[in-house]
Amino acid sequence: MTRTPLTAQPAFKALTHHANIMAHRSMRALFANDAQRGERYVIEAAGLYFDYSKNLINEVTMAILSDLALASGLIEEREAMFRGARINLSESRAALHVALRTPPTEVLEVDSVDVIPQVHATLKKMANCAIELREGRRRGHSGRVIKNVVNVGIGGSELGPVMAYEALRTYATNELTFRFISNIDATDLLENIEDLDPEETLFIVSSKSFTTLETIVNARAAREWIVSHYEDELAVAAHFLAISNNRREVAEFGITPAATFELWDWVGGRYSMGSAIGLSTMIAIGPEHFQEMLSGFRAMDEHFRLAPIGENMPIILGLLTFYYRQFFDAQSIGVMPYERYLKRFPAYLQQLTMESLGKGVTREGRPVIYPTGPVFWGEAGTNGQHSFFQLLHQGTQLVPLDLIGFANSLHPKGEQHEILSANLFAQAEALAFGLSAEEVRGEGTPENIVPFKVMPGNRPTNVILAERLTPAVLGALVALYEHSVFTQSVILQVNPFDQWGVEFGKQLAERILPELEDEQEPLLAHDSSTNSLIRRYRSLRDH
Ligand code: F6P
Repeated sequence: MTRTPLTAQPAFKALTHHANIMAHRSMRALFANDAQRGERYVIEAAGLYFDYSKNLINEVTMAILSDLALASGLIEEREAMFRGARINLSESRAALHVALRTPPTEVLEVDSVDVIPQVHATLKKMANCAIELREGRRRGHSGRVIKNVVNVGIGGSELGPVMAYEALRTYATNELTFRFISNIDATDLLENIEDLDPEETLFIVSSKSFTTLETIVNARAAREWIVSHYEDELAVAAHFLAISNNRREVAEFGITPAATFELWDWVGGRYSMGSAIGLSTMIAIGPEHFQEMLSGFRAMDEHFRLAPIGENMPIILGLLTFYYRQFFDAQSIGVMPYERYLKRFPAYLQQLTMESLGKGVTREGRPVIYPTGPVFWGEAGTNGQHSFFQLLHQGTQLVPLDLIGFANSLHPKGEQHEILSANLFAQAEALAFGLSAEEVRGEGTPENIVPFKVMPGNRPTNVILAERLTPAVLGALVALYEHSVFTQSVILQVNPFDQWGVEFGKQLAERILPELEDEQEPLLAHDSSTNSLIRRYRSLRDH
């Protein structure tokens, strides 16, 4: 359905005016004028406590943002997604990752086929495989027990699994070693397998398309490693599994249907960690914990689907991100988990948010005339405080932050967790309220140093708190951002489920590759910079 262009919507115009007013409000005043603010701008759902009070907002802001969400068709689009409609218009596909966490008692149809039985059949097959490996019953070609699981995949076929493995390490078995190979850089493969015994190693080739160059080249190299060790092609069957929806390519690689786990075209790569792409996660943490993770996703799905806009965590998160990007020129959003196990979470979010919202045309293909998705980046706290936080406190650009913390450590030890958490709360406080010149003087600071110590404040943060990092909490966190991205996409009127921009670079690389490999000096027809770089590269290399 064609909607009124974003900038022509009355709510957008109202926000343009209103944000200008809010930009000149101070957070100190907003809090001073509303004693309940810290409890008012809070949402609890799916085990997460979301405090968005330290934003440059008031009730008018939230009301207009909510009007904009309604006028943008968020409610209808959300229903269309949950119904399995083909909302990914440029690829004519449904985007039904919510089906991956739907219980077996429900029906969800894509093209009149109920996909829920397929989802649960695949989960069952994954569980059987995971249990066999975890119980030491899976053997390699020589009969030795498999002890190493190596995921070969990239983008959504790696970032979710590696992030979840790192996040849930304390729940993982110690009986198996897990590795993740993604990069075409040969060092990635070599460094990850050089200490492994081929006879004890199982590769999971994770690729929805089974044509992604990095994954296929790495998988072939791994295959060669196995075959040359055994001097037997038949060894492939015992040492490789595949996760893909391209059965033909999988079969050509030598992996049987029994060793292949199904993916569907309605699961996008960056939305796939609850699908068979999560096999390595399930092997690591076990089927029960994996199910708990899916329950966390599901709890957030339900909340997103049912909670009113003003009490809806992903919608509010999405609206706030949109608000700062659009009206405060916030070019980036920082995500800082104060939990070491979430150290790969920012990288995971980069693909989820930037591949989804990094678009320059609307769903109908018209150029957008407003900023779309911001850059996402981040680092586990407190390390960032000692590197880039200086810019966040006193630099000249606004970088809204999401700070993620936990009431309990997975390794309670002395007062370290309290120190970690104190830092999280202190950063949110310092960024919001700053330090005035009078306060700096009041500390006895010499006048010539005062300007250096003034902290402007008024820098927005969301704080997300949970009891502890569990599989369910991780699922809820990921679903929170998935639906926040969806909310933004609807308002921005872009398709969050395609990624055509990634393809062009791949095509150019394929054209350049023979020009690097050819023995003969190639005839180059690129721009003068690319031509010179290729010539210089050829003259610098050893062979
Ligand atoms: O880089 C683009 C991309 O298509 C991602 O969207 C996707 O997650 C990744 O490549 C891997 O794709 P595949 O699972 O098909 O190998």
